[in-house]
Amino acid sequence: MITNTELEFKGNLYPTQVVEYRKDSDKYYFTSQNGVILEITILRNSALRFRYATDRVFEPDFSYAISPNHSRGYDEIQEDETDMAYLIKTSKICVFVDKASLRVRIEDLNGNVINEDELGFHWEENYEFGGNTVKMSKVAQAGESFYGMGDKATHTNLKGKRTHNWVTDQYAYSKDQDPLYKAVPFYVGLHNDIAYGVFFDNTFCTHFDFSHERRNITSFWADGGEMNYYFFYGPEMRRVVRAYTDLTGTPELPPLWALGFHQSKWSYYPESRVKKLASKFRKLQIPCDAIYLDIDYMDGFRCFTWDKKHFPDPKRMVEELEDDGFKTVIMIDPGIKVDRDYWVYKEALEKDYFCKRADGPIMQGKVWPGPCSFPDFTNPEVREWWAELYKDLLKDSGVHAVWNDMNEPAVMEVPSKTAPLDTRHHYDGHPCSHRKAHNIYGMQMVRATYEGVKKYVFPKRPFVITRAAYSGTQRFSSTWTGDNVATWEHLWIANVQVQRLCLSGMSFSGSDIGGFAEQPNGELFARWVQMGIFHPFCRVHSSGDHGDQEPWSFDEEVTDIVRKFIELRYQLLPYLYTMFWKYVKEGVPMLKSLVYYDQMDHQTHFRTDEFIFGEQILVCPIQEPNAKGRRMYVPRGKWHNYWTGEVVDGGMEKWVAADIDKIPIFIKSGAIIPKYPVQQYVGEKELKELTLNVYYLEGTELSTVYEDGQDGYDYKKGEYSLRNFKLTGKSKELIIQQFKDGTFITPYSQLRINFIGLPFKIRKIQVDNEAVTQKDVQLNGNNTIVIDKNFSSLVIK
Ligand code: NOJ
Repeated sequence: MITNTELEFKGNLYPTQVVEYRKDSDKYYFTSQNGVILEITILRNSALRFRYATDRVFEPDFSYAISPNHSRGYDEIQEDETDMAYLIKTSKICVFVDKASLRVRIEDLNGNVINEDELGFHWEENYEFGGNTVKMSKVAQAGESFYGMGDKATHTNLKGKRTHNWVTDQYAYSKDQDPLYKAVPFYVGLHNDIAYGVFFDNTFCTHFDFSHERRNITSFWADGGEMNYYFFYGPEMRRVVRAYTDLTGTPELPPLWALGFHQSKWSYYPESRVKKLASKFRKLQIPCDAIYLDIDYMDGFRCFTWDKKHFPDPKRMVEELEDDGFKTVIMIDPGIKVDRDYWVYKEALEKDYFCKRADGPIMQGKVWPGPCSFPDFTNPEVREWWAELYKDLLKDSGVHAVWNDMNEPAVMEVPSKTAPLDTRHHYDGHPCSHRKAHNIYGMQMVRATYEGVKKYVFPKRPFVITRAAYSGTQRFSSTWTGDNVATWEHLWIANVQVQRLCLSGMSFSGSDIGGFAEQPNGELFARWVQMGIFHPFCRVHSSGDHGDQEPWSFDEEVTDIVRKFIELRYQLLPYLYTMFWKYVKEGVPMLKSLVYYDQMDHQTHFRTDEFIFGEQILVCPIQEPNAKGRRMYVPRGKWHNYWTGEVVDGGMEKWVAADIDKIPIFIKSGAIIPKYPVQQYVGEKELKELTLNVYYLEGTELSTVYEDGQDGYDYKKGEYSLRNFKLTGKSKELIIQQFKDGTFITPYSQLRINFIGLPFKIRKIQVDNEAVTQKDVQLNGNNTIVIDKNFSSLVIK
């Protein structure tokens, strides 16, 4: 499947001299003598789209990736022309189109080259399938680094690598194995302190070469379709990532329980086992919000059915679990068992909803139930039907969360591991083969699932998770990194994968904590949980045949460590939820690789392990056995060691102690970190107060806390509570100003404020310009005060 023909092939065709130039509102067209048209669309001052037709005609303009809500709009555009080139200038960048070759060069307004075509657009005719292999090659600038690209299990910096996008069921993948489950043809380039991004929106198998084949060249190409890419200018990486995420969309807020700890296994059954599992969590007081039922809950692996022997009364079971604070998440696969007595199969057959082969027969492939057929989720009518299938499933069982798996689609016992390439698809009215639809098949499945679950859990919020994804899937679903392995190397892989997914617009992601295949020992499990609680999606999942992987499956010490870290996640829920809100609202990645955090510090460009959780917490997982700590890079600025309180200056590598019950965690000086009390599940306790941990800084820092009803949609009507804090620290004084927004009334009325790292003793406290006595504010110990939640300014001296 993967072709490697980018440069060696001599039959490449190129555009020739430009003979026509025209403008049509926000689009510019350049036509070459041999019939190539380059269309440039101005989306924003810093975001452009480049599209090429090889024979004067563009394909219908259609994309699954682009969010219908993406932003448009720009300031005045200037156009110019020289002997050599056409020039288009926005208020941020300048595009030159070479008249002789149609090659493009993009500069910032200071004349720095941001990105420049080498051979530029070229193509190769595809005799076998028709159409072209479409290619683009660009000059890699001096010292250029590359980031992004979804779930690649390789170094965060892609310099020197070649990579492919073809969503693949890759059981027990290894480091550097490629491709995996997701296709996210988006990268960020960084050179000379300038970041830019390229999103190649082409759903065929795509390929990227980051200075691998030739040291100074970057190229990308696709096995079919159009050369159609978006360009985003930074110069800050955060602008690039946010622009890409704006274009491909963000999800709605999930219910808060979805950010709790989840426990899964292939498979928990029968009901008695599920119940035992649930009560053990409560007995051992290990917080948990969700239990997953893998394929064995079904009747003979038939989707939308229950195995009544093992689950005689799903509704009662789900209700009882819910009474105990557990949500039940159930799996639905795309493969529908070929069985004329099975209503889902019969209905799809009658309605002609299954994918067909080129010559007419319905496509079949083996999955868990044996031969299956596969609904064509690229047909809107099929998606609607699929969404409706959830009506009874959810109503009859009370379940309100769904896990879509095997949706690459994975097909067993065939070398390609997926549907045959001649399989036909509707593609929303643009009929095509699986070559074009493969990468978005799983996305369209989970989209349909999301629509159904959303409709039938209303007025609650849906929770959906998918394995396969293409750019934009984040609008509908969370995701996990598939079938990893219980090894230390995989802990490293999970770390880079989740950082990379966050940078690629898909923040709501996590790994199978502890590893899916094989079994971790207690130390590895504990270390993985310590990292996993900082991933936006936090679930232990493992395959059935490699032993148990519950928090108590090792020894008591491990259980205690795991409990302590899961408790920390629950304490940090308001912080995590605020991160999610920023992701939804502004496309800010929930985890930030250090290069994203501080691209001007070149020390960050090749770091893989450290990441920023949200905006203000630095985490560095322990990735080796027997560690008593590790060396790590602390980014520039002042940081408080979470465990010891020591304040360190960043901008250098340090040894940080972290015995088995700790991992390196640092809080940015000046941060105000909100915390809830430990709960066994979201909503267990009525919140009596919100704790704010204030980390002293001489200087200023902004922090935010977002809260709402934790489920439902009232927040969309303004029922949220947003607290923006401005901290100003001086040598003998600390001022916190609070700016509030939203109409949500939080259940608590007080804030418990802990001052950490104060260089002075508190002698005076002023709330809203009035001095208060220590009694009024309940000065607890030296450095904790409890005050009314609605204060505007707090001064301590
Ligand atoms: C493959 C998935 O990746 C895994 O998480 C699941 O347990 C198995 N399929 C069985 O459904």
